Amino acid sequence: MTAEADIVEGLRAAGLVGEGNVVLEPLTGGVSCDVWKVETPSGPIVVKRPLPQLRVAAEWLAPVERGTSEVRWLKRARGVDLRIVPEVLAELPGHAFAMRFLPGCPVWKDELMAGRVDHGFAAQVGQGIAAVHAATAHNESDRADFPNDEMFRALRVDPFLLHVARQDSELAPALTALADDLSSCRIALVHGDVSPKNILVSAGGPVFLDAECAVYGDPAFDLAFCTTHLLLKAVWSDDRRLDESAAALVAAYCGGIDWEDANDLLLRAGKLTAALLLARVEGKSPAPYLTDPEHRRIVRDQARGLIIAPSPVDALVANWKRKFA
Ligand SMILES: Nc1ncnc2c1ncn2[C@@H]1O[C@H](COP(=O)(O)OP(=O)(O)O)[C@@H](O)[C@H]1O
Ligand SMILES: [Mg+2]
Repeated sequence: MTAEADIVEGLRAAGLVGEGNVVLEPLTGGVSCDVWKVETPSGPIVVKRPLPQLRVAAEWLAPVERGTSEVRWLKRARGVDLRIVPEVLAELPGHAFAMRFLPGCPVWKDELMAGRVDHGFAAQVGQGIAAVHAATAHNESDRADFPNDEMFRALRVDPFLLHVARQDSELAPALTALADDLSSCRIALVHGDVSPKNILVSAGGPVFLDAECAVYGDPAFDLAFCTTHLLLKAVWSDDRRLDESAAALVAAYCGGIDWEDANDLLLRAGKLTAALLLARVEGKSPAPYLTDPEHRRIVRDQARGLIIAPSPVDALVANWKRKFA
């Protein structure tokens, strides 16, 4: 792995820091990266270095090249809308990179878990994701820039869809078909990890981080991934504002679909949301806060039903139950 001294050397070469002592202060967060805050003469920056192996229970090996995909995504998304990503300042040795630190911006997940729920913000998240999808849809050069199918398979399709399929013979045909559809779909530039923990709440709206799983693929995946998190938190908190926020996110996203028939996308997103919901209670990356067996049962029963009888994501959200009578 690249030594921290090489990172500092890279920061010097990029003109971001001077010859004096440079302190890499670890930031909380990641299972897949080292993330540091570094004070520089021109203000604080963040340095991110991918780890060869993720820090989660099940061993997920992932090539460090995903650092490069993340930088590419951040730059591409910034070209779509300056406000929705931090500025990348330099690429560093070992697929590490430096970006501007955004001060005073809480992580959306923390806001939601603290009960600060803002439908307008959820809608902005939907708009932001849709804007990147719309700008990159059916674009040959974006397709060529993100040839990350293998990585997406290893980090998303396998652990979230096929892992559950291997354990559940009844759902296996539907989940395997869904995995095949997802792997072969190439419509737009997908972020791949649109989770509330990867979104900062800035005064100007959402700022998206952590695009290591970026791939040219099915935009429905991003919508499904984020919606899943809101629905899980709705069950955890039994707070109807969370499923309302999910509805606001889906509606705003829908307003941005200009590259295909919205109904097709909403159905794909509904199928993926059902599978991702199940994966978050049975898969390799369970939602850490969903420890109550009753919460898990509520998610599992609905998700299984929706995998067998799919529903478009807007209807799925409208019918979502936070508890069983
Ligand atoms: N540009 C930034 N400005 C402010 N905080 C940041 C920035 N980048 C990352 N962070 C903080 O570091 C955490 C981890 O960053 P992230 O890119 O999500 O890495 P990981 O892959 O380790 O999850 C984020 O949740 C956020 O709190
Ligand atoms: Mg993250």
